[in-house]
Order: sequence, then C-alpha cells, then structure tokens
Amino acid sequence: MRLDYLTIFPDYLAPLRLSLPGKAIDSGLLDIRVHDLRDWTHDRHRTVDDTPYGGGAGMVMKPEPFGEAFDALEVQPGDTIVFTTPSGERFDQRVAEELASSKRLVFACGRYEGIDQRVLDHAREIAEVRELSLGDYVLNGGEVAALAITEAVVRLLPGFMGNAASLVEESHAEHGLLEYPVYTKPRTWQERAVPEVLLSGDHARIAAWRATESRRRTAQRRPDLLHPSVLDDGTPIQRATPADAGELLTLQRACWVAEQLANPDVRVPALHESLADVRSWLGEWETYLVRRADRLVGMVRARLDGDAWDIGRLAVAPDLQGEGLGRRLLAHIEAVAPAAATSYVLFTGAGSERNQRMYRKAGYRLRRDLPGPEGAIVLSKRRR
Ligand code: ADE
Repeated sequence: MRLDYLTIFPDYLAPLRLSLPGKAIDSGLLDIRVHDLRDWTHDRHRTVDDTPYGGGAGMVMKPEPFGEAFDALEVQPGDTIVFTTPSGERFDQRVAEELASSKRLVFACGRYEGIDQRVLDHAREIAEVRELSLGDYVLNGGEVAALAITEAVVRLLPGFMGNAASLVEESHAEHGLLEYPVYTKPRTWQERAVPEVLLSGDHARIAAWRATESRRRTAQRRPDLLHPSVLDDGTPIQRATPADAGELLTLQRACWVAEQLANPDVRVPALHESLADVRSWLGEWETYLVRRADRLVGMVRARLDGDAWDIGRLAVAPDLQGEGLGRRLLAHIEAVAPAAATSYVLFTGAGSERNQRMYRKAGYRLRRDLPGPEGAIVLSKRRR
C-alpha cells in the first residue's frame, strides 16, 4: 500500500518509521512518503494560509498548494484522499477496514480553521474522498489523526501482523463487543488472584466466561454497541441527538393529544414543554428513537437516579400503537441500563389502562410508596 502525507509539519509524522510500520516499509509492504506542503508554495514566506472570506477568526488553508501537490503526486481515480478534520465522519474500525482495501491513501492534514472548500470539491473529482474525524474533540491539526488512522489501517493489511487470530479476538472486531479482561503470570500479584476459571484448562468454560465478561464490559462502558438496538425487522433503535429535538417534541405532542382525546380526565403534565426544554433534557437523559421510512415513530429516555434506572417518555406514534413497538423500546432501554442500576422505575397516567397493562405484562408492579406526579402512578421492577 502506498501512503502519502501532505503536511506543514513533516517531522510530526516521523513515528511512522518506528516499530511495525518501519518493518513493513523495509519488507516493501508499505511505501510511505511524507511531503512538506510548503514545497508547493511560490512566495518568499512559503505561505499556506490566508484570512477567511466573509470574516471571522483564524486562518484558512489556501487551495493552490494542495492543488499543485495532487498534480505532482499524480493522484488518480482509485486513490483515496483522506482529509483529517473534526467535522468529518467518525473514524471507526469499519472505516479502517474500508480504507485497508485501497491501494493508495493520500492524507491531507489540515491546520488552522480548515482547508478551502474548493480543495475538497476538486479532490472529489480526481479521486475518492473521505473526511474523517477521530472523535468529538478538536486537535491542533490533522497530523495526530493521520497517524492514528494509519496505524489502525496498516495493521489490517495481510502480512502485517504476525498473529492473524489476535485481529479477530480484539475489541471492535467481528462481534462488535469490547474485549474481555486479560491476565498473565504471576498467578497472584499484590494479593490479587487470576480468576480461577482461566486456570481450569476447560476451554468451553473459559470461552463462556470471556463472552460474559465481554458483554458485561460493553453494557457498562458502551451500551450503544449492544444488540437490542435492532428491531426484529432490522430497523435500528438509534441514540437521539440534539438535532432530533423538534421531531421528538412533535411525536410527544401527537401522543399526548391522542391520550387526552381518549381519556379526557387524564392530565398530561408535560404537554406545555417547549423545544428548548426538549433540547435541554436531551443533554441529561439517555434517549433512543426509532424511524420508519424517515419518520420518527418511537422514543424512550432514561437516566440513573441513585441505583434506579428512571425510565420515561416511552412514546409510539398513535397510528402504530398496539404493534409491540413500545414493548421493544422498553426492553431496549432496560438492556442499556448501566451496571449501577438495580431496578427500573417509571410512571404512567393513573387512568391509562392500556399502558398499565403493558407495564404489568413486562413485570412492573405498582409502587404506592413512591411519589409520582399528580394523576400518575409509579411502577417498578427489579433488575435481573
Ligand atoms: N483535526 C483537528 N481535530 C481533529 C479530530 N478530532 N479528528 C481529526 N482531525 C482533526
């Protein structure tokens, strides 16, 4: 695989020649070339940036050096140009696998406030383009991201790793769970013993223990990776973002209005919630939603209150109620509860028979000892 890097800090990429990538270079598996973007400037100061049109803080990287660099490096269809930027799509193991199948990656490392948009538009005409972000934080420049992406990609190349099995077993590999805890000698260290099962020699028991630990760890640290996030027909249950606030409010209102019409005596306390209210609670509550044909049709939220997983706002579009979607959303929000939760708690309208029936079927019991909002009853269930 050929790897090119366009940067104003070539020294930043020196670690590429260390360790395993270094060996892969010697063996000819990798052809790594680091280029100083300033080589494609023509003024005395070797200028690569300028002030933004339209005003604003910071500097923008000029288009000409990148354009000349792409020409000089003979970037062509079939190559992939990777722009590392905090506004890119999130880089993950799946993207690493996609990049690993490319013959050539050209990394364009941004600095300052970003690169002139025309560079990206031009790049899309001459090659495949990926704009990638390492995560939701801002680095000083794209070099560290280019290093991280390189390391994740090249270790997937056939012949790069000594032991191919360790590629399958590690976190984020095929099963999409985090890796189980690992131990080595000595058997006891600082009075801490290695779990007995790992010394048993019983491979089936060891595999079962590791699978359980993987799931436990994933549920605790990354509940978003667990499976209940897919309905039987393959529709994903997704984590809500602030951009969903408007649709969530609309769905809630539709459900509350339907509830009010069916039970005129039931009071719906939160009916007067505003868009700003929804945006604000979205920051505090873990919220999930379901879309069908681009329409938001279901939602549920929860947060930890002491050792109780406080569940609420379970709502299904009025025309889809009674088809089991509410039950699935309830199972999902229970499944993603953090390890610290020992029970599930929720409230529902004292007069809404149908909701109460569903919760009873799901194992919830009336809690007269717990206070709820006016006109509502509190239900709870022990976590198993
Ligand atoms: N450049 C600056 N911040 C970045 C990030 N989070 N990911 C990729 N490139 C970046």
